[in-house]
Amino acid sequence: MSRIETLLAAMTCEEKIGQLVMATAGYAVTGPVLASDATEGVRAGRIGGMLNLWGAEHAHAIQRMAVEESRLGIPLLLGFDIVHGHRTIFPIPLAEAALFDPVLWERTAREAAVEATRDGLAVTFAPMIDVARDPRWGRIAEGPGEDPWVAARFAEAKVRGFQGSNLAAADSLVATAKHFCAYGAATAGRDYASVDVSERSLHEIYLPPFQAAIAAGCAAIMPAFNDIAGIPMTAHVALLRDWLRGQAGFDGVVISDYNAIAELVPHGVAGDLVEAAALALKAGVDIDMMSNAYSRGLPMALDRGLISIHDIDEAAFRVLTLKQRLGLFDDPYRRGGAGTIDPSAERARRELARDVARRAIVILTNAGVLPLASGAQRIAVVGPLADARADMRGSWSAAGDANDPVTILEGLRAALPHCEIAYARGVDIESEDVSGIGEAIDACRSADVILMCLGEAASMSGEAASRADPVLPGRQRELAEAVLDLGRPVVALLSSGRPLMASWLVERADAVAATWFLGCEAGNAIADVVTGRFDPTGRLPVTWPRDIGQSPIFFAARPSGRPANPADHFTSKYLDMSVEPLFPFGHGLSYTRFALSNLRLSAETFRPGDDIVASVDVVNEGSRLGEETIFLFIRDVVASVARPLLELKGIAKIKLAPGERSAVHLSIPASAFSFLGLDFRPIIEPGRFELSVGTSADRTNLITVSVQATAG
Ligand code: BGC
Repeated sequence: MSRIETLLAAMTCEEKIGQLVMATAGYAVTGPVLASDATEGVRAGRIGGMLNLWGAEHAHAIQRMAVEESRLGIPLLLGFDIVHGHRTIFPIPLAEAALFDPVLWERTAREAAVEATRDGLAVTFAPMIDVARDPRWGRIAEGPGEDPWVAARFAEAKVRGFQGSNLAAADSLVATAKHFCAYGAATAGRDYASVDVSERSLHEIYLPPFQAAIAAGCAAIMPAFNDIAGIPMTAHVALLRDWLRGQAGFDGVVISDYNAIAELVPHGVAGDLVEAAALALKAGVDIDMMSNAYSRGLPMALDRGLISIHDIDEAAFRVLTLKQRLGLFDDPYRRGGAGTIDPSAERARRELARDVARRAIVILTNAGVLPLASGAQRIAVVGPLADARADMRGSWSAAGDANDPVTILEGLRAALPHCEIAYARGVDIESEDVSGIGEAIDACRSADVILMCLGEAASMSGEAASRADPVLPGRQRELAEAVLDLGRPVVALLSSGRPLMASWLVERADAVAATWFLGCEAGNAIADVVTGRFDPTGRLPVTWPRDIGQSPIFFAARPSGRPANPADHFTSKYLDMSVEPLFPFGHGLSYTRFALSNLRLSAETFRPGDDIVASVDVVNEGSRLGEETIFLFIRDVVASVARPLLELKGIAKIKLAPGERSAVHLSIPASAFSFLGLDFRPIIEPGRFELSVGTSADRTNLITVSVQATAG
């Protein structure tokens, strides 16, 4: 018998269920607050995992309780939401997605794992890989944006980064891909609301990122809070068992979302906690995070014959196997063990945080005011986000210290010591008080350039932070318009966890940048970009609407039989607004200009199994060094199931000196041209495809050639 089988054979039913229970520790300033029944539960073997407890000392103390005081000495699984950094907070995932750079996505996850494991942790509830196309949904901030291909690359990179090459290593964390699945399609963008997506959307949009995470070895999955067409994900047999464990071959652990099993009752599919527990277990949910449904419900579910002991054994086996893979049985104190801290690695991590943050900034418009003119000048910095230290951390601040982030104001002051910088807050992020606007206007009057730091508070995106109308909150528009009325050069810096609806601002300001929530180095990163020390490279991972009425809006839309035509009434358009977004997916300016030309293919036809190489010439036509991101899209022009107008299939980056010209080559396997046919099997249908490249998904600016698929 294997070690796990021997252990299972020695366990009581209560101890087996204990392995399926994850309890929380609240966190006070001085450390975790453990409810007394949690410590009793750990000693009695009724709790197998904990979340929200970190710090090597605390982690080891509770671990010692499990290992030394419980009957079988099984170590605990200690988890935490390390979504964009642990102590060193990196940009929110939506911002990080703007890098379109899997190498850096992986590095930030690796660094987060190093810090988290040093704090005794073994599991992160990340990556969050929900494709999201509706800025009303606050959790759009936590994920990689609107595109499934990008989300899949993000998923793989994060899994590799968190888990490293060996889960048993002292600095490896279990990655938990979440939220499985289609959570981003919440009705009307309202968090926790019902989802109703087609079978095809599931397979084409929402499942591929999870498939990629699994292929990268992801050891845990978290089902989402939502239902899909009436079946809550926590009880979704077809997706959790048949697809996830069957088709996708996932053999890791499924961890419920917080209290989600108990919520099967208000969802309306379980009459009581007992039925809820049985439904979740039967669907393949191994760990009950915080709902007490397993501890209270499973014994009675056994009595009622809703489940068998075999179901419990299976789940306990998977949890114990994960603990074994983590090396917890060999050394439960490996994570958080005494190790020397290498100051140069600490400095490098901080540098990485700055580099990733500046790469995440997307310059949306620039009428030449950026980068700021060199030399001493008078700068006014106004707005409630200029000095909003804690907000810079964004939605998941993990163990990040609220006092740690560099504010925008501090970053600018440090970068521009010879400039006279006047600061006035003007208004708060949300309040109705406008009494500070006068002072802000005074600060701006004699400025050569004004930086307006506007946006949301960090708490206005993320979980339970949907906004029906994601405009600038409070009286910020009033402040901004008063500043703009002065007629001086104005740069607007938008801190937010989503595209904000601010067409009026884009029309009036001389430059607008999306600065998201950039983490602990926010201010320095923003200063690097606005001063031109760093040429901006960030590109939008999500379409930016003109108005929330256009949502959901995304580039991979299907064609209409009546495409929008302003001159033709009976077409797919709005009477009161353009159908075009304010900024397309992939948009982002740099301080130089690139031109693409001469797209050519290695072959004009292909068969299954072939690779095609697309090459395009790129020239830097500006006067500064810069980096461009090139997107490769395809369109299957005629297919048995109408295909999207554009499907993203590849990305390349190129750095060029002024005047320099070079070619970018992108290799695409024939499989990229396949889709799920009428019978949901992958197929490449013979016929013409369009292959396009461009610097964004703006279809009016793509270079397109045709390529022909021939029968295999
Ligand atoms: C969130 C998850 C998170 C969990 C644990 C839930 O409310 O939906 O994303 O991992 O809490 O903190």
